[in-house]
Amino acid sequence: MKIDLSFKYKDLLKQINKEKPFEPEFAIILGSGLGDFASSLDVKKSISTEDLPGYPPSTVTGHSGKIIFAEVKNKKLLLFKGRIHFYEGYKIYECVLPVFITHKLNCKKILLTNAAGGINRNFIAGDLMLADSFNGMNIKKELIELIDIPTSEIKNRFLDFPSSKLNDVVREAAIYEKIILQEGTYWYSKGPSYETPAEINLMYKFGGDAVGMSTVLEAIFANLIGMETVAISCITNLAAGISLNKLSHEEVTETANKVKSKFERLVKRVISSI
Ligand code: HPA
Repeated sequence: MKIDLSFKYKDLLKQINKEKPFEPEFAIILGSGLGDFASSLDVKKSISTEDLPGYPPSTVTGHSGKIIFAEVKNKKLLLFKGRIHFYEGYKIYECVLPVFITHKLNCKKILLTNAAGGINRNFIAGDLMLADSFNGMNIKKELIELIDIPTSEIKNRFLDFPSSKLNDVVREAAIYEKIILQEGTYWYSKGPSYETPAEINLMYKFGGDAVGMSTVLEAIFANLIGMETVAISCITNLAAGISLNKLSHEEVTETANKVKSKFERLVKRVISSI
């Protein structure tokens, strides 16, 4: 079913346009490990998502999302704190709302960050991984329905995806900061539960290096609407069946917290290089 996002979110967009202090040049969706990123930046405006008409409410009581306009190293940033996940019961068009808002603010570049489980046997918990490709075969159709471009043109939209230019920026930033950067394919899992060992085995056999329940919807949509996209994962745990431990959200947040400063350093260097 076709959904006209400009119409559906017209009041929300009107309000953001009224409150925005500038047009951002780079947007970041903050995943686990980067939640506090804005606190070290020069924040110009922070908007609570619960004050925006139609913005999907956070399912975690007392933790509203924030859309933050901030500056660092003369770069104008747009940050999304608090993601909209499909496994929370939201529709696909709601999950991509941050990307749509970014696009409507004329921002052409987006960095997607996330926590992920490591499938690649060479990864360890705490590694950072540049997602040099994605597997989202099971969700493309729904995303394509959200945009208004001819099928013949859609076919070419994944030729430089994720952006090779932005990928190089991340690689160079990691070298500059002396951070070991893994690379690999991020596999989208709809959730809501962590995967079974059999599912991880399938992903491994088909070339998955990391698995997570976010990012791919946003990345495919951003690419379809012509934005340059790049994604970095924090490998918070080894995936089911590779790790001998039972997976837990606590392990994910604990590792994300441990690597927070490394992750922030990398992202700040990326920002200064774009
Ligand atoms: N699977 C899915 N999502 C995740 C994982 C995982 O192992 N770790 C962090 N997010």
